[in-house]
Amino acid sequence: MPNQLTFPKDFIWGAATASYQIEGAWNEDGKGESIWDRFTHTPGKIKDGSTGDVACDHYHRWHDDIKIMQQLGLHAYRFSIAWPRLLPTGRGTVNQPGIDFYSRLVDALLEAGITPFVTLYHWELPQPLQDEGGWANRATAEVFLEYVDLASRTLGDRVKNWITQNEPAVTQYAGYFNGEHAPGLKDPRAALQVSHHLLLSHGWAVPIIRQNSPGSEVGITLNIGYAQPASPSPEDQRATRIANAFMANWYLHPLYGHKYPSDAIDVMVKSNQLPGPILDYIQPGDMQAIAVPTDFLGINYYSRHIVRAEDIPEDQNQPRTVFPAPKTPENWMDNGWEIYPDGLYQILTYLHSNYPIPKLYITENGAAYSTPPAADGHVPDVHRTNYLRTHFAAAHRAIQDGVPLRGYFVWSLMDNFEWAEGFTQRFGIIWVDYATQQRILKDSAIWFNQVIKNNSFEG
Ligand code: FCB
Repeated sequence: MPNQLTFPKDFIWGAATASYQIEGAWNEDGKGESIWDRFTHTPGKIKDGSTGDVACDHYHRWHDDIKIMQQLGLHAYRFSIAWPRLLPTGRGTVNQPGIDFYSRLVDALLEAGITPFVTLYHWELPQPLQDEGGWANRATAEVFLEYVDLASRTLGDRVKNWITQNEPAVTQYAGYFNGEHAPGLKDPRAALQVSHHLLLSHGWAVPIIRQNSPGSEVGITLNIGYAQPASPSPEDQRATRIANAFMANWYLHPLYGHKYPSDAIDVMVKSNQLPGPILDYIQPGDMQAIAVPTDFLGINYYSRHIVRAEDIPEDQNQPRTVFPAPKTPENWMDNGWEIYPDGLYQILTYLHSNYPIPKLYITENGAAYSTPPAADGHVPDVHRTNYLRTHFAAAHRAIQDGVPLRGYFVWSLMDNFEWAEGFTQRFGIIWVDYATQQRILKDSAIWFNQVIKNNSFEG
């Protein structure tokens, strides 16, 4: 029986993007080179050989894009700032046109009645800092503060919601462990240092933002892939605990005042893949800095992982998803991720019961389906609508059970450059024709607009 699900008054409905994925203009108006510019310009790194050089050309079309957001009825818009637009070499010389771009964007959003949620680091490290070791180098966390200070000083009078880091686990794992993302390294020891320095950069950034942007709220966004055992066997259950320790608790524990999870450390020590001391880069005061109180935690959720003991290598690796059911568009996205709305409910309730989190946002949730426009111009992306409906319902259930979830950002506002997958995956609720840069509201966007209007939908 369909059931009308109504969200709390003041619930924030939004959509999210990231600078490299939509802006283009990779070398315009004084912007410096980022690790993603370098990576995509290196042959063989991106599935379809594409780059974000132009992407959705949002850098030139932001004005029209805000009109579309207004049409959608969005309360809030989560976007990221490209560090090398503000500081082309990462530090020192300031690039005023970069500041002006984001300043105009923020002004126009506010004028349109849309609250900006700004992510400071969504993976665009200035290349010169990578040349000095990137996030494996503790000094990068220090230089980050110069950028954070500049961004929050220049925008902090108007931006009141800040996210320091997006998905540090992905930078650690894909950037430094398996090399699928920029900077493309395969170095387990560096990957561990990276996780610590990303957390440290967050902890150090929070007081700076608070000082420069009075009355603002600050948090961090984590990706929490929900791991479940493939069977009730003790081996699979243990493997699942370890998978979660690496994927989720490695970040959650330090953020909320605990040590790094000992079961993950034991696995690394026993495997002897990293001979010698493994956490020797932690300095006095670091764990206190990381555990700085924040206003919210952002969660990016897409899918779950089913874990079998034999799939967990004895290192920092992450589990593969094994799913026995036949793949259909109802339970799998185009990109091979399983659809599992209950995982969102489980994660939200797990976080609420295990960590003292004052409030939560879903900072990303969405699905990759390539459904093209039909002859009549509509984009009948029914599977995306179903995905959103079932995940909104899972979020609603968590709220009913007392989880302080205050907002929900759909990934993504529009189709865009999906990192190593290039343009082969479409996550947008807005279709982008990359040849003409035409935008079309998909059916899921039209449905979402109704949800926002009513603050309610039929679940
Ligand atoms: C997340 C990223 C986001 C987007 C989605 C699909 O890991 O934060 O930029 O690529 O996945």
